Amino acid sequence: MDEFAPFTSKLNRPIESKNVEFQRLGRLKHIINAAQLTPELLQTLCRTADTIRRLAKHRSGNDALRNLLSDKRAMLYFTQPSTRTFLSFMAACQILGLTCNEVRDPKTSSEVKRESRMDSIRMFSSYFDIIIMRSLAKDFAECCAYLMNRLEEQEKRSVPVINAGSGSDEHPTQALLDYYTIDRSFDFDERTDGVESRLPDLKADYPDLISGVGHKTYAFCGDIGRGRTVRSLARVLSQFPGTSMFFVSPDHEALKLDNDLRQELIRQGVSVQEFDTLEADVNGRPLIEQIDCLYMTRIQREHNSESTESELQQLDLEPFRLTVDRVNRVKSYAPILHPFPRDSVVGEIPVEVDSDPRAMYFRQARNGMWVRAALLVHLFDVADRLHEAEVGLLRS
Ligand code: CP
Repeated sequence: MDEFAPFTSKLNRPIESKNVEFQRLGRLKHIINAAQLTPELLQTLCRTADTIRRLAKHRSGNDALRNLLSDKRAMLYFTQPSTRTFLSFMAACQILGLTCNEVRDPKTSSEVKRESRMDSIRMFSSYFDIIIMRSLAKDFAECCAYLMNRLEEQEKRSVPVINAGSGSDEHPTQALLDYYTIDRSFDFDERTDGVESRLPDLKADYPDLISGVGHKTYAFCGDIGRGRTVRSLARVLSQFPGTSMFFVSPDHEALKLDNDLRQELIRQGVSVQEFDTLEADVNGRPLIEQIDCLYMTRIQREHNSESTESELQQLDLEPFRLTVDRVNRVKSYAPILHPFPRDSVVGEIPVEVDSDPRAMYFRQARNGMWVRAALLVHLFDVADRLHEAEVGLLRS
């Protein structure tokens, strides 16, 4: 039986119609896809994350944070492997006082007794106040959001659903933390804590450089076709003016930019170019010297069929690997990101690169904890109480 059949007609709709149903009173109820992350909402969540970080530096701030959602419980339903997303959501819950529980291996749940996944979800909503879920099934999280909405219409218990990774399709909260990392990297202005603007020095080498996420060239390298983090982040960045994107992937149908995303980005006004090596020449200059941000990814073998596996074994991946020499040619301010895990066998980013100041990937992963906490503050509508806590801390 197709568990998603009751929602098929909802799945096959334009994203704008869907996203209206994932909101309540102008705020998110569920987070299912990256198109929900508008520039205004991104700014709100990033500034909320900044507030949480400031509070977390003090013992009394931590006490205030732990009080914010201490009456709530979260279910982490992760049936696809995860280190960062699972643990950063768990840490975010702990920062805000939410109690967590988890199902990671469905063999330990009543799904082995042929309980449907949709019944499992409804059970979770009986005991918990939010469901944070990762699945290999592309549409599962979206269908869970529709199930919760249906229950709400019937005046039954209904809780928010967070998509923490859906097959090769979407990973909206990864896009959120990637955006937060990029936003911080491109904030060259003077800071309130007295740090001077970096812009005058940088402009000596890069006269056209401005602060902010817009008017930048982003390179995505590796498994573009099946990388859900690439898809989600590209959707988020496409909302900003003057955005160019270079997609660098092996010339294999499974790994290249898919046509739907290409057309979507072009419709949004993004300048899109595709290459099959990091050494490509773009209008007479090496690609690696022209980019403002480099987003590396691994080849996602978990999506391989048997025939794809043997085809990909034959590929030369050297053109998609960073080296210290390549990093040395990247602009001095350009962040290097990777959603992680990196592939320790392929080595798309060798550990020698980790000490470079542009290597942001460990910081990026930690940012996930802060910005996921900010998302929970938004979903449970406790931003006012968070700001009261900050005011209280400043007075004390
Ligand atoms: N970036 C990311 O989703 O990592 P995990 O698979 O470890 O959660």
